[in-house]
Amino acid sequence: MPVMTSPIMSESDLREAVTRELPGVRADLERLVRIPGIAFEGFDHSHVERSAEAVAELLRGCGLDVEVARAGGQPAVIGRRAAPPGAPTVMLYAHHDVQPIGDRALWESDPFEPVERDGRLYGRGAADDKAGIMAHVAALRAFGDQLPVGVVVFVEGEEEYGSDSLERLLAEHRDKLASDVIVIADSTNWDVGVPALTTSLRGIVNCFVEVRTLDHAVHSGMFGGAVPDALTTLVRLLATLHDDAGNVAVQGLVAREGASVDYPEDRFRVEAGLADGVRLFGSGRITDRLWTKPALAVLGIDAPATGEAPNALVPTAKAKLSVRLAPGDEPKRAYAALREHLERNAPWGAQVEITFEHDGAPCVIDASGPMFDAARSAFRTAWDGTDAVEIGVGGSIPFIATFQEMFPQAAILVTGVEDPHARAHGPNESLHLGEFARVCLAEALLLARVAQTRSGVNP
Ligand code: BES
Ligand code: MN
Repeated sequence: MPVMTSPIMSESDLREAVTRELPGVRADLERLVRIPGIAFEGFDHSHVERSAEAVAELLRGCGLDVEVARAGGQPAVIGRRAAPPGAPTVMLYAHHDVQPIGDRALWESDPFEPVERDGRLYGRGAADDKAGIMAHVAALRAFGDQLPVGVVVFVEGEEEYGSDSLERLLAEHRDKLASDVIVIADSTNWDVGVPALTTSLRGIVNCFVEVRTLDHAVHSGMFGGAVPDALTTLVRLLATLHDDAGNVAVQGLVAREGASVDYPEDRFRVEAGLADGVRLFGSGRITDRLWTKPALAVLGIDAPATGEAPNALVPTAKAKLSVRLAPGDEPKRAYAALREHLERNAPWGAQVEITFEHDGAPCVIDASGPMFDAARSAFRTAWDGTDAVEIGVGGSIPFIATFQEMFPQAAILVTGVEDPHARAHGPNESLHLGEFARVCLAEALLLARVAQTRSGVNP
């Protein structure tokens, strides 16, 4: 009997290969979760180094040429394997740094000791975005030496801290990074059992505002009534940032309507964990509020802790603000608008000092063309016939706008490992393991279809 060898692995072979690889992928994911690599200032960055090295080792194991690269910031990992003749090159993006854990007491288990409960793997970064890294590794392992495309794996090390050195890093390695398609495994799916293709993300501006009303703290009885304390002043300033309906009141930010999907309020309330009786704020459809309008939140305040506060008027108080920018907005302009608002609204002539933390541009992706069709088809197969929903997300991935500018021709497929219950950035972050298996299969199928698309064979 003649032996027919197909140059591209079949769907059933890929299914089998992914299933075979999953236990090892899961074990390596757990290994990554044990490394607390946080790029924020004030954290021990040796863990970010260790995490970069662990990722580098995984990529070497997939037969890639690997380097750990940096441009003044935290280490990124770049792994490459050349394309077979005529085949496209696909960039696979993820990030290996994670958010801080916040209040440890709110975690039901050690954030850096992964454990499975009810089909979910708990741990900081288990979803965002170490599962993204492992989805890429799973697809590469499934193909083994039969990888039908060239790959550039780019795993960033400071995404959660604003990607400050990213532009320089990308510019310095530009030639190595050129690719026809890019898969960004750092977003979310629409629901458990329903995949998504992300086509817009909001931008972000983070800054600090510090208010001063006094040179030093004074007795609250002796001076209170005539002297505004800094904390009351700050709270009043913060209250000007929204109107009574809860819409952002800073003038000059882009706000649009027209999100493609509805997010039913009852489902949204449950997924957000909204407390009984609390009304949503802002106006318009929920998806518009989340995806195409700005949002503004106070993330933290430095002020005396209540248990230790003396009867004294506070001289200074500081808040951290975060503005999410609608697609079409521009971070530098938005920051200027916010500064102007804060300076103009300072109550009682208080001194206001504003300092920038970081920003990231929003983005919109036109999901038409053969590569997007290849992704939709891969998703449909991996989710047993369920079509991907095209979604926006309210979160930010600064890398995308930077990359779009550098390589305007590349098709950008924003996929994800998260689901609405993943609690990324919060306590008890987790990954749905059943969905993760589908994500891994979808990515392997996607690479096969991308290879077929380019060579003119119908996927
Ligand atoms: N994975 C998220 C982006 C995301 C959030 C996608 C929600 C889909 C849904 C990413 O890692 C992230 O959190 N980015 C930061 C970026 C910021 C620090 C510039 C964010 O959005 O806070
Ligand atoms: Mn992420």
